[in-house]
Amino acid sequence: RQARFTLDPAFTVGAVDPRLFGSFVEHLGRCVYTGIFEPDHPSADASGLRTDVLGLVRELGVTAIRYPGGNFVSGYRWEDSVGPVDRRPRRLDLAWRTTETNRFGLSEFMGFLRAIGPEAEPMMALNLGTRGIMEALELQEYANHPGGTALSDLRVAHGDKEPFGIRLWCLGNEMDGPWQTGHKTAREYGRIAAETARAMRQLDPGVELVACGSSGQSMPTFAAWEAQVLEEAYDVVDYISLHAYYEPLDGDVDSFLASAVDMESFIENVVATCDHIGAKLKSEKKINLSFDEWNVWYLSKSEAAAEAAPRDWPEAPRLLEDSYDVTDAVVFGSLLIALLRHADRVTVACLAQLVNVIAPIMTEPGGPAWRQTTFFPFAAASRYGRGEVLDVRVQAPVYGTKKYGEVPLLHATAVRAEDGTVTVFAVNRSRTEELPLEVALHGLELSGVVEHTALADADPNARNTVQDPERVVPHEVDGTTLADGRLNAVLEPLSWNVIRLG
Ligand code: AHR
Repeated sequence: RQARFTLDPAFTVGAVDPRLFGSFVEHLGRCVYTGIFEPDHPSADASGLRTDVLGLVRELGVTAIRYPGGNFVSGYRWEDSVGPVDRRPRRLDLAWRTTETNRFGLSEFMGFLRAIGPEAEPMMALNLGTRGIMEALELQEYANHPGGTALSDLRVAHGDKEPFGIRLWCLGNEMDGPWQTGHKTAREYGRIAAETARAMRQLDPGVELVACGSSGQSMPTFAAWEAQVLEEAYDVVDYISLHAYYEPLDGDVDSFLASAVDMESFIENVVATCDHIGAKLKSEKKINLSFDEWNVWYLSKSEAAAEAAPRDWPEAPRLLEDSYDVTDAVVFGSLLIALLRHADRVTVACLAQLVNVIAPIMTEPGGPAWRQTTFFPFAAASRYGRGEVLDVRVQAPVYGTKKYGEVPLLHATAVRAEDGTVTVFAVNRSRTEELPLEVALHGLELSGVVEHTALADADPNARNTVQDPERVVPHEVDGTTLADGRLNAVLEPLSWNVIRLG
């Protein structure tokens, strides 16, 4: 019962784009209000940003941050979110049945990115549900034009002299979903996406544009949607989006642990569809993938709670505040491995979301901020998963799952950094057995194991809470060796592993 694979720098998948470690801030529940922004909090800076949260966001290592939604964006009027705060209107948000105060808006979001640091960049979503080309152009002009026009001068008058320089734009959100305000057919959406993209490129040919793909591989329109949208928009967009959330259904933890099987096939099927349309159009261009919403999400619980909730339009209520255990973190780590294994085509990805809402960081209003179990795999992948992904072909014992049939117990990838060091990311999906792993190393100048850390626990349901915020943290693993070109390790049952070789 040993798992094995070979690493050889002659066989690579592709370079990791730093945007693979993106995240997502939506005006949803407490992601913004009492999440990243809480002027009365003891740690708040002069702009009302929680510096305790900022510290954790930096430690997490996020890059591109998608904003302001999500489903929220399909009712978003960007003009509400700029200018003097006391004159900003309160609005109903139909997507989450809440009241949006607009105290935090576009300028505040850009300030949040600056406070995080140089790697943080905006990924701005446009409302193509209830609005159209003109509003997209107006926002682009307000945000990016240096000055001398009505809208760019308005930004300057609002206190932002320098343009925001937003390069990456999402042409709507989940437009294939019947739940989306302004939901469209693929043809309707493909046309508006293409025409919006063309107009935005007239203003600035350098923008990077993401067309909405499917909200999940199980959507009835999946693949036909991508094909039809790209038939309309292939030449004028750069990316197609993918969204996927996973949860254990009917107590089927074994299938849940194999969620990355679905994620990988989703990616491969979208790549095939993009390339099919590219071939039909006789295009040299390749469309890349923006996996701009992914996570573990106890969606069925959220839906039941939403059904039962009174329609009283609260401000920043507790919504989608999933608490993640060790099992969730192992699945989450496996989803990161799936993204890295497809780094040649998935060049943007956003962990949905960043704070409080299905998030790696939790806060209490007026109180502390802490790391969920899922924080650790993301932080390690962002820190050590930069460089060239090596091609990993796993040979491993399998286990049976109801959803995906026989699945290898090992899920793994490896990334070679510029300095030649290599990090192996590996998940043992067995809930009961250790998994011995042997990796043959060819053509790599590595002299030893720098560190092997694991996230695993005798209690698979252990989690971090406000009362016990450090109940689950990664631990060092002893006994991992590198000798005679072979790495040998033992992966604990139900574990996420980071093995650094130098
Ligand atoms: O991330 C939560 C929600 O999930 C987003 O608003 C939406 O795009 C998706 O359905």
